[in-house]
Amino acid sequence: MSQECEFVQEPHKLLVIPGPIEVTDEVLYANAHPSMSHMSPDFASVFGDCIRMTRQILYSEDAQPFLIAGSGTLGWDQVSANLVEPGENALVLHSGYFADSFADCLQTYGANVDQVKAPIGDAVKESDVETALKSKKYKVVTVTHVDTSTGVLSNIKGVAEVTRRVSPDTLVVVDGVCSVASEEIRMDDWGIDIVITASQKGLGTPPGLSILVASQRAMKVFQNRKTPITSYYASWKKWLPIMHAYEKNSAAYFATPPVNLIYAYHTSLRQIVQGPVSLEDRFKAHKNASRRVKDVVAALGLRCVPLSEDVSANGMTAIYFPDGLAASDIIPRLLKKDVVVAGGLHASIKEKYFRIGHMGATAVDIERGDIDRVIVALNEALAEAKASKA
Ligand SMILES: Cc1ncc(COP(=O)(O)O)c(C=O)c1O
Repeated sequence: MSQECEFVQEPHKLLVIPGPIEVTDEVLYANAHPSMSHMSPDFASVFGDCIRMTRQILYSEDAQPFLIAGSGTLGWDQVSANLVEPGENALVLHSGYFADSFADCLQTYGANVDQVKAPIGDAVKESDVETALKSKKYKVVTVTHVDTSTGVLSNIKGVAEVTRRVSPDTLVVVDGVCSVASEEIRMDDWGIDIVITASQKGLGTPPGLSILVASQRAMKVFQNRKTPITSYYASWKKWLPIMHAYEKNSAAYFATPPVNLIYAYHTSLRQIVQGPVSLEDRFKAHKNASRRVKDVVAALGLRCVPLSEDVSANGMTAIYFPDGLAASDIIPRLLKKDVVVAGGLHASIKEKYFRIGHMGATAVDIERGDIDRVIVALNEALAEAKASKA
């Protein structure tokens, strides 16, 4: 914990699932801010800072952030309700469980959805994106930057390049719920239109805040839509004036914001964009943490779900159990050592693997020793599980 914060959170099991993640003492303390009016000038300026710092994390000059009470899923609803009109085509690139859910959401709002599916452990190849984009006109292409079910990292820069070249009107939508602040995203330079994320992963804040950032191009597409917006709570018509007001440090009301969470998010954003570790070094720290975990996995003779390094996320690792061992042999043993990991999620391999998150403070604040604890616990749990079968 850092020197400035006198508050120290209670001893607890180390949470290294791929989100929610460990939060710093300062963030947790900020969440305990005394109750504030969401219409007060003091709160409005904190909200305004959050909007500006969110842009900074994505290296964008002028994209429009929407900070709304909800979880990452609300980002899918916002895209489906505001950008895609009923009957329009959406192309979903599938690298795991979360693409199916995004597709389901788009269909709920009346989109015609096609999916291009990569084999388990791989990302969709740009050549396959190109073929699909040439086959018909798509309003949006969606790509999961890191699919949390597989730990697969997609090349969103490459997907954006292909889309701009082959189908310039198609909006590029990135599900960055498991990548924002742990993987580099240069929204303006790479030509990305939408980044969807949430507070509880790389952004190091408790769950409950939906964060979506839309390019000005996407906002124009929204403004020119022909049919009515197909949601009430997720409508940008309602939220845009609110975001504009808060950015001018004055409050406006559509629905009550998660006031305390905004204080927590503000503190985390300040640690990320104004703290001693630059954004670039933060991404490097995630790479280092990931390298350490993946090296141990290899040394133990285990196999990761992603098929190659090129498609491996830096904020999490998905690992197959060795032959003869199952979740019940490993996960409870890690829990006994106060290390909380996650089981499998991808339906076709659910029982065969587990997941470790290494995002935010766990990856960046080396002094915490989180990665060391994970490595020791993993080595011990595996040895004990093997010995129990001998
Ligand atoms: C890649 C991805 N997209 C979307 C979601 C949905 O976010 P939430 O659970 O916050 O609604 C998640 C959740 O883990 C995710 O990992």
